[in-house]
Amino acid sequence: MLKGKKIVLGITGSIAAYKACLLIRCLIKRGAEVQVVITPAGKEFITPVTLSALTQKPVVSEFFSQKDGSWHSHVDLGLWADAMLIAPCTASTLGKMAHGIADNMLITTYLSMKAPVFVAPAMDLDMYAHASTQDNIKLLQSRGVTIIEPGTGFLASTLEGKGRMQEPEQIANELENWFAQRDGDLKNQRVMITAGPTFEKIDPVRFIGNHSSGKMGLALAQACIRRGARVELILGPTSLDITPSPLLHVTNVESAQEMYDAATRLFPDSTAAIMCAAVADFTPADVAEEKIKREGNQMILHLNPTRDIAAAVGKMKRNEQKLCGFALETHNALEHAKEKLSRKNLDMIVLNSLQDKGAGFRVDTNKVTLITASSTTPLPLMSKQEVAENIIAKLFA
Ligand code: PMT
Repeated sequence: MLKGKKIVLGITGSIAAYKACLLIRCLIKRGAEVQVVITPAGKEFITPVTLSALTQKPVVSEFFSQKDGSWHSHVDLGLWADAMLIAPCTASTLGKMAHGIADNMLITTYLSMKAPVFVAPAMDLDMYAHASTQDNIKLLQSRGVTIIEPGTGFLASTLEGKGRMQEPEQIANELENWFAQRDGDLKNQRVMITAGPTFEKIDPVRFIGNHSSGKMGLALAQACIRRGARVELILGPTSLDITPSPLLHVTNVESAQEMYDAATRLFPDSTAAIMCAAVADFTPADVAEEKIKREGNQMILHLNPTRDIAAAVGKMKRNEQKLCGFALETHNALEHAKEKLSRKNLDMIVLNSLQDKGAGFRVDTNKVTLITASSTTPLPLMSKQEVAENIIAKLFA
């Protein structure tokens, strides 16, 4: 969340200036207050009227107001802001920033800025790759400016290369992560999260899997990151689109054994763990090296039990570490969940039942009961994001 954060948004003369409207909406939706400072070239691409309508503030562009000749104080803006974000930022503005060429209101504001500065470059891929641009970027980074990596391709061009301004949602995420890392109440926590299904190989083309999409686990990771925690996400095979974050490290695994290896390796350095993965309880005793042929009327597959990762981590748990498991039940839910809570040495278990509509696998919602040794808290049906926030709040209360 960017609640209450005051952001000076610098807009420069790039075709990507149109995306500034989406960016402003994104920042305001997350609770920020936005003040636009635009270069003369920026105004060729987007009108101040649009920008001031979106921000509900007059746009600052010239040193003096055209109406009454009053002076716009870049020094005041530098003191007012919690962050300055220049998006889109052209090669020219990057160069002026790096060399202190204060010939417009945006650069003077930058030079007076007391708050952290973020830059989202936007330019042709050759301009971005040019040694001058790269040198200017390095200079700015060495002075503490955060460069928000551009994406590949420019406009509809099929040429490969970086230069396209990062998407507004991603830019807002980077700012949010930066503040979470600095101010978040969980910034000293390292949370290990298992998520998604495991695939147990039968032969080179077949496996035993389950319906877990990883959505619940990813929502937990995002909720932790929003509060400043570092997350070690151990993720089974999914098709999730994961937004990178400096607070997130992902270990991709396939089988229950690989998840076990990763979890037991990473848990000792974690302050907490949440075991959300749907781990296979059985794995084929032998994996056929070649594709099994369709022969005879019946096929018998011999299975061995997998290792219980949550129980193993529960055994390793030190007093100061917190451990939360999940229970996915179809009947006698509460009884089974309580049994798992104590057998696996968990501090909390999150019960979801496949009897509840909108709960469990694949959907974007879940209906859970949070169970500890001393409390049972049923929650209504809500989004997986909200469920995750409730779990984190209870675990770190
Ligand atoms: O991924 P989604 O589509 O969003 O779906 C979310 C979910 C339904 C997968 C999730 O909410 C959930 O319920 N996860 C746990 C599923 C499960 O395997 O529950 P269980 O009751 O079988 O296992 C109990 C606990 O032991 C779980 O914390 C599980 O991760 C853990 N376990 C189980 C077996 C095993 N070999 N190792 C384990 O660590």
